[in-house]
Formats: sequence, C-alpha cells, structure tokens
Amino acid sequence: MKKVTVVGAGNVGATAAQRLAEKELCDVVLVDIVEGVPQGKALDLAEAAPIEKHDAHLTGTNSYEPSAGSDIVIITAGIPRKPGMSRDDLINTNAKIVKDVTQKIVKLSPDAVLILVSNPLDAMCHVAYDASGFPKNRVIGMAGVLDSARFRAFIAMELNVSVENTHAFVLGGHGDTMVPLPRFSTVAGIPITELMSKERIDALVKRTANGGAEIVSLLKTGSAYYAPASAAVEMAEAILKDKKKILPCAAYLQGEYGFNNLFIGVPVKLGAKGVEQIIEIKLTDEEKTALAKSAAAVEELKNVLKKLGV
Ligand code: NAI
Ligand code: 2OP
Repeated sequence: MKKVTVVGAGNVGATAAQRLAEKELCDVVLVDIVEGVPQGKALDLAEAAPIEKHDAHLTGTNSYEPSAGSDIVIITAGIPRKPGMSRDDLINTNAKIVKDVTQKIVKLSPDAVLILVSNPLDAMCHVAYDASGFPKNRVIGMAGVLDSARFRAFIAMELNVSVENTHAFVLGGHGDTMVPLPRFSTVAGIPITELMSKERIDALVKRTANGGAEIVSLLKTGSAYYAPASAAVEMAEAILKDKKKILPCAAYLQGEYGFNNLFIGVPVKLGAKGVEQIIEIKLTDEEKTALAKSAAAVEELKNVLKKLGV
C-alpha cells in the first residue's frame, strides 16, 4: 500500500485520514503535537475498519519517524479562523508551524508530494516550497477544488439537478479575491450562462467567494472541514492513482498567466509526479483583471512573510 501522512489531526486532518482509509487508497499516518489525540483518532478509525471493510493501516503519533517514506504529505497543521477573522489573520502563527512541520517532514520523506491545506493557503505554499527545497511540481495547495465544489453545490441547489452533472472552475488565491469563472462552469456540458440569469450567477459567485466565512459564522468555533477534507483527498487520489486529472490547485507559476514565482490557483494536471502540467486558458480582460487583483493579494502576503522572516 502507498503511504500518506496527514500532519494536524484536527478537524480537516482527521476527516481526511478517515476518507483516505475508507477509500482504501493508502496506509495513513496522523501526526499532531497534542499528545494522545492522533493516537486516539487513528485507533478509533482502525476500530471502524472491520465495519467499513478496509485494510488500510492507521498510525497516530507525536513524532515524525512513522511518516518516513511517505508518498504524499497533507499539511493541515495550524489554527483555523474564528468568526470575524480573515484567513490572512492566521499568517503569523501558521507560517512558523508550516515551516517547522515541512522541515521535519522532508528529512524523512524526500520524495513525497506535499499538499498544503493550512491557511492562508497560497502564502503557506510559499513557506513549504522554500522550507522543503522541493521542485515546484511537488508542492501543491488545496483551495480551488474546495471553492469549485462549493460553486457546484450551489449550482445544483439552484437548478435542482444532480451535483454529478455540474462542473465549475474557481481560479486565483484562496481568499476574498478568488475568481469563480461562470463561463467554464457547466451543467451536463451546458455553460451556466445559458441556464441562469446574470443576477443569479452573480449571487452564486458571491456566495462561493464567501463560502468559508459562511461556515465559520455557523460553526462559531472553527472552520469548514468535511468539504475541505474531501477536496484534499480528491487531489491525493489523483496523485496516488496517477490519474492525470485536471483540477484547480495552487501551483507555482513561472511565467504562466503572466505571473512569476507565485503560488496561485490555476487548472493543473495531477498525476504521480504531482503537478504534471499547468493548463493555460485564455481569459477575458475582465477575468484577467480579477486574477491580477487576486495575485496582488498573494504578493502582499509574501511581503508579510518576508517581514516575519519565515
Ligand atoms: P484544527 O484546529 O481542528 O486542527 C489543526 C491541528 O493542527 C490541531 O490538532 C493542532 O494541534 C495541530 N497542530 C498545531 N500545530 C502543530 C504542529 N506544529 N505540528 C503538528 N500539528 C500541529 O483546524 P482545522 O479545522 O483542521 O484547520 C486546519 C487548517 O487548515 C487551518 O489553518 C484552516 O484555516 C485551514 N483550512 C484550509 C482550507 C483550504 O481550503 N485551504 C479549508 C479548511 C481549513
Ligand atoms: C474555507 O474556505 C477555512 O479556508 C477555509 O472553509
């Protein structure tokens, strides 16, 4: 079996471990700094295995040794936001955590693909890229799959159709400036621009961009985790099975879309090597302006990281 380590045994990490094991994609190592929590959650999941009918092995640990030789490492370590906080408010705490975690992980899993989840997502990709020294194809951020899934869920609710009929694309940074693309969002291959009024599309776009905050305001004590875990596991599955699946992910751009040395959400092909191709689609002037605004927001966070010395 392949091996995936999930760092951070909190809401997103433990749910991702559950989905990975129940799909029998790999053995799972769950790492956290809190004593007992990763061990307890891994044991609880292992005890569900006879009922769920899988033979994936689950290990919970506070040390990194059991993670050695991982094919993929999903990094969810850090703090989530509380009501009223933006993802960017998390940068001081999470940058230090993600740097420390990455340095420990890469020593024991030098060939792994890193999937970043911790927020602010695009900035944390930069931290992990710098701390790992990995090639750009092996550092990927999860955001676009989640944001697109939210957009798809809202489209399906609006039109009363199966979610399976929906496709959606959300580009840009994982923040208030994300760029949902209605032109490339379809129901059974039909662009939603043919199926809904501009006002309704605008409303769904707005709800998508606000999707994370909507859940935070309902939960009050943390942020979303079921859909985020599903999104990270869809990416891991594409890599483990070398599926060559096109998904919107945060990838390191060097000239693509006119951006340099910047992590931002774009369509990529995911396979065994991680990001195997960045797909460049032609954008309208309006879409280009929105993406540039989103890129500027990520650049600003890069400057914050510089000031923090991370
Ligand atoms: P959580 O608080 O439930 O879990 C975080 C876990 O990280 C805790 O168990 C904590 O003990 C652990 N941790 C803290 N420092 C650590 C370290 N140095 N080493 C190992 N583990 C450490 O939070 P949740 O809800 O699981 O979210 C995790 C992160 O993912 C947050 O930063 C959140 O904002 C982000 N997130 C990002 C999404 C995205 O779309 N990219 C979606 C959802 C969450
Ligand atoms: C979300 O979008 C908190 O980034 C996380 O739910």
